[in-house]
Amino acid sequence: MSNQVQIFDTTLRDGEQVPGCKLNTRQKLEIAAELERMGVDVIEAGFPVSSPGDFEAVNKIARLIKDSTVCALSRAVQADIDSAAAALKGAARPRIHTGIGTSDSHIQHKLRSTPEKILEKAIWCTKYAKRFVEDVEFYAEDAGRTDNEYLARVIEAVIAAGATVVNIPDTTGYCLPDEYGRKIAYLIENVKNIHKATISTHCHNDLGLATANSIAGVQNGARQIECTINGIGERAGNTSLEEVVMIMRQHPYLNLTNRINTKMLNPMSRLVSEKMGVPVQPNKAIVGANAFAHSSGIHQDGVIKRRDTYEIIDPLEVGVDKSSIILTARSGRAALAYRAKEIGFNITKDELDVIYKEFLRVADSKKEVEDADLRVLCEKYVVVAA
Ligand code: KIV
Ligand code: ZN
Repeated sequence: MSNQVQIFDTTLRDGEQVPGCKLNTRQKLEIAAELERMGVDVIEAGFPVSSPGDFEAVNKIARLIKDSTVCALSRAVQADIDSAAAALKGAARPRIHTGIGTSDSHIQHKLRSTPEKILEKAIWCTKYAKRFVEDVEFYAEDAGRTDNEYLARVIEAVIAAGATVVNIPDTTGYCLPDEYGRKIAYLIENVKNIHKATISTHCHNDLGLATANSIAGVQNGARQIECTINGIGERAGNTSLEEVVMIMRQHPYLNLTNRINTKMLNPMSRLVSEKMGVPVQPNKAIVGANAFAHSSGIHQDGVIKRRDTYEIIDPLEVGVDKSSIILTARSGRAALAYRAKEIGFNITKDELDVIYKEFLRVADSKKEVEDADLRVLCEKYVVVAA
């Protein structure tokens, strides 16, 4: 089995389903072009049957993108698959993503059907999509809560019908990492033709486990991760692309690689946040404003002496210029002297004693001491500029 994990980005489909995140076609094209430049293997461009605007966007993306596979979503419905196939016309590497719910909950309450009928539909939609494109990905919606034995029957049947990728979504974000990992291992052990398809993870974040579940999936043999920039997506979101990419990079013993240019992770995060108008939470891993900011004296002292005392990622690797030392009432003398030097003042030990007391007074009255405040203090007390 190859150790290369395909990165499937669904920012423009699952991500764009978020209320208030609607993008116009021009914005989608701009994001798609950047995703391709960053090395994303598959771009899920949209759900063409859902609206004329989405159809147009998928079609334009399909014609623009040359290196990445362009994927269009459909349900197991003929009109959906026809629309996906038509929207993908002109794509260098088209993929239709089709599927149906397989959990008891979906079969009984949403689809009001039976397991046998759903199995037939799964085979039918795969074969029907296969009339239009070679690359067909099948999703077993709510696979996270689907009985493993039944799931294995469905997966074996759709691979026999021509599915090239089998997506095992934890649609409701329900699974624990070891449970999700065992599900993937079960499919590898029990689906006879599994070697003919790539297994994909698609994990939602309802319990904050989307990233952990996706990693458990690839540790157990999945070779595609479906994810979004900044982890945006339905409800609590999807697996965050930047997190899974950096986990694979920071833990070489996993022996898993991907094609992502990590230096583009932060610019990409900003682009998506700006176009969708959704701010990134400051403490978000890898791309949050505070991901490389240090504000407590203990941490600042360590980082100033040597960055890796409190940082496991070099900010340059993910497109951030440098770590930042934030001056607050929790900061120590080392941080104060360091920041003063950055703005041009070499503080002696005696000066530092005086200035630090003044600094704490200012810091207690503000959330953060800015360069301008620091300059006023230094100009008052420091004799020699750096
Ligand atoms: O979460 C999910 O199950 C999905 C499918 C449509 C792939 O988004
Ligand atoms: Zn989803």
